[in-house]
Amino acid sequence: MTTAVVSSLVLLPLVAGPAAAAGGHDGRPAGDRPLRQLAADDRLRVGTAVDMAALAQDAPYRRAVGSEFSSVTPENVMKWDALEPRRGEYDYAAADRLVRFARGSGQKVRGHVLVWHNQLPSWLTGGDFSATELREILRRHITETVRHFKGRVWHWDVVNEAFDEDGTLRDTLWLRALGPGYIADAFRWAHQADPRATLFYNDYNIAWAGPKSDAVLALVRTLRAEGVPVQGVGFQGHLGIQYGLPTGVAANFRRFERLGVRTAVTEADVRMILPADEEKLRTQAEGYRLLLDACLRTRHCVSFTVWGFTDKYSWVPGTFEGEGAANVLDESYTAKPAYRALQAALAGRARPRAVR
Ligand code: G3I
Repeated sequence: MTTAVVSSLVLLPLVAGPAAAAGGHDGRPAGDRPLRQLAADDRLRVGTAVDMAALAQDAPYRRAVGSEFSSVTPENVMKWDALEPRRGEYDYAAADRLVRFARGSGQKVRGHVLVWHNQLPSWLTGGDFSATELREILRRHITETVRHFKGRVWHWDVVNEAFDEDGTLRDTLWLRALGPGYIADAFRWAHQADPRATLFYNDYNIAWAGPKSDAVLALVRTLRAEGVPVQGVGFQGHLGIQYGLPTGVAANFRRFERLGVRTAVTEADVRMILPADEEKLRTQAEGYRLLLDACLRTRHCVSFTVWGFTDKYSWVPGTFEGEGAANVLDESYTAKPAYRALQAALAGRARPRAVR
């Protein structure tokens, strides 16, 4: 069976914005409400990464972003290479467009990302800077960026993917020049620039217990003991069904929450080896369900974000050859079993939440 015949629901006619969020006016039967409506009942933000070219050019895409989601994450336009392509020349235009869209749609913005080893401008990676210069460049980048969006970004992914799979710190430009202290510095600088934004450490392959997740836990424990303002941990949630689905995710989230931080699923997608078939799509749906379910079972899990929502626009085929179909809608915006699984999980949650 192809994805197109899994469901007859095509998500095109939904009305964007707060009107849709208010609920009940889009002609859908009860129980078939947009994700943001279902999540609002539970004070959970349900978000998506947004591709700004698609948002500008593709009206169905734009409508679905507005109607289905209550938070947005820029997929690329808040990364350093986009914000400062040439040294000292800042370009906030695309990021500002998303922030305005979010405001008009009653959505929060998850800022992504301040410190990462990817998507750095070439003037920076090829610059041959001293450690002192690099520290000042990083301080300035964080300060300028967070100040620019002050009051308009809800969560910041301050440090992204700083660990390797074995739990050692990843060998990056930042670690080599500045040592491990760059992580604490980054959180302190971001907090100074916008004390009201919630500051996250974000990584992949940490949704279940293991050396990497243990290392992030130890880092967060140490930072908080030192008074460093790390306030959340983002579990990206990039899964591939060929690797099997993780277990123990909710228990893992809870051990982070015991340190006093919020948790969030920040980049969920569940890829597969193509072509998709009915069984793979069922397993994919189970992958999405278990990530959302872990969030719903965890008292301070504040948001659940998918890394794109339609197979029409996805980073996966360009990165993993022969893989794809990772999103909850197919390329024609038709709901896959994964979308139904998210609806069902949101509609069926069973516990009071204590979201902070
Ligand atoms: O902007 C250039 C454009 O000028 C050029 O013409 C085009 C030609 O390839 O490339 C464009 O840059 C691409 C960029 O996305 C913007 O579209 C890069 O090649 C491409 O590598 C880049 O991919 C992004 C990837 O991060 C980079 O690491 C994906 O879209 C984005 O989904 C992905 O997101 C990351 C999160 O930030 C962190 N966690 C993992 C996640 C998935 O890899």
